[in-house]
Amino acid sequence: LPVEPCSIVLFGASGDLTRRKLLPALYHLYQAGQMPEPFRILGVARRPYTDETWRDELRTAVEQFGRPPAPSPQDWHPFAQRLFYCQGDLDRPETYERLAARLQEAPTAQLRQNLLFYLATKPSQFSQVVQHLHQQGLLRPRPEVGWQRIVIEKPFGHDAASAHALNETLARYASEEQLFRIDHYLGKETVQNIMMFRFSNAVFERLWNRDTIDHIQITVSETAGVGDRAGYYEEAGALRDMLQNHLLQVLALITMEPPVSLDPEAIRDEKVKLLRSVRRYTPDQAARHVVRGQYTAGQIEDKPVPGYRQEPRVRPDSNVETYVAARLFLDNWRWSGVPIYLRTGKRLARTVSEVRIQFKPTPHVLFATLCAPTPAPNAVTLRLQPREGISLRFNGKVPGLDLRVRPVRMHFDYNAEFGAYTPEAYERLLRDAIAGDPTLFLRRDEIEAAWAIADSLRAGWDERPLSQTEFYPAGSWGPPAADVMIAATGHSWHEPLHIP
Ligand code: BG6
Repeated sequence: LPVEPCSIVLFGASGDLTRRKLLPALYHLYQAGQMPEPFRILGVARRPYTDETWRDELRTAVEQFGRPPAPSPQDWHPFAQRLFYCQGDLDRPETYERLAARLQEAPTAQLRQNLLFYLATKPSQFSQVVQHLHQQGLLRPRPEVGWQRIVIEKPFGHDAASAHALNETLARYASEEQLFRIDHYLGKETVQNIMMFRFSNAVFERLWNRDTIDHIQITVSETAGVGDRAGYYEEAGALRDMLQNHLLQVLALITMEPPVSLDPEAIRDEKVKLLRSVRRYTPDQAARHVVRGQYTAGQIEDKPVPGYRQEPRVRPDSNVETYVAARLFLDNWRWSGVPIYLRTGKRLARTVSEVRIQFKPTPHVLFATLCAPTPAPNAVTLRLQPREGISLRFNGKVPGLDLRVRPVRMHFDYNAEFGAYTPEAYERLLRDAIAGDPTLFLRRDEIEAAWAIADSLRAGWDERPLSQTEFYPAGSWGPPAADVMIAATGHSWHEPLHIP
């Protein structure tokens, strides 16, 4: 899509997200010739910067968090000239008056009217900021006065009821078309490639169903702990932080029906339909199909690390989960009866995200006597990160005079095939928001459907403290209870592929 000249307003301009992700992404988009011409970026926050001091601060951020090489003065200067700062408290109407006045200073009508508001703020401020923008007349859904869009980031509520309430409030001031809700996993190249892989390769899509697929495992593991985000994490936990959004989005792309076109609504319709087919559990069922866990002290890369309860600002008796694993079933024609295992956690053995599609064994095992136990079933692994790529496992004859079979793998590697450059998720998402393409953003009904699933998975957690088998040492692959859960349906967790 073409991009039109616009002003980008960053609320939370002195915050972490702006420094680590947003500004480096905007700078790289500019360098790659992907920004509209002209454009302006206006930062809003409480700290007393001037345009000049904010620019200096951002230059350091781009040097620190952007892709090398660091910007040279010749590269930085023309970009920096487009950065402006507006000091103000987000609670106060005067801030928005000043913002409106600064926007009016722009030299062209498009810069004054095409407005992208990025709310890199606390979620508790979303409604208030949007209400103020509305009252200031900065959100006008009439096409003759340009376009105005709002980008927000999770968490969108903490359960289905609060997500619904937030959506209702936002809907009072902005139309659904103006709201761009980010899930940064959708900005990842490998996640976007799921649709390409499925819908442009007949050889796989024909097998993509209950007749040939035995089960699916989606793993998103991290070695990092809670870091300095305990305040947020104590309210969230792994299920709300990761599974409700990133893992369910990956699940939807892996299992949805082909959309009728690439129209954003056609794709989002299919995702919602899929999410609505996820079986909801009663608390009893959830206790059998879902496991939570929490890390205790252990070792990461040979260094000792503390347990979650010992982390700064974590309650010493916290029952917040740093790990969650679930067995889901999709009650629809294509997937009926196929277990889908999801797991995600912090302080696990490796940082890796992958989707493993395991096929059923051949109907008759001709080579059973030749290998122990039997030839391995085929598997396709989508390696989302790191060492992005796709691997296919099949059986091959071991060379030699005797007849022996062994599983072998074929690997496709993104970097080897396409070169090392892939745009950061935020570059893609910011560019799409500027262009007005909502495909990779979450629609209201999608968010609410995902929360309904999350609520059913965590049923009973608040009443029950963690039990002994739900703790796992940092650096392991999770709690023993997760192994027991998956074994109940005859499976075991696959160690994510390690590509040297
Ligand atoms: C964020 C979560 O959404 O995703 C973090 O809040 C998590 O807890 C992060 O670490 C993982 O993202 P990525 O892109 O590093 O896999």
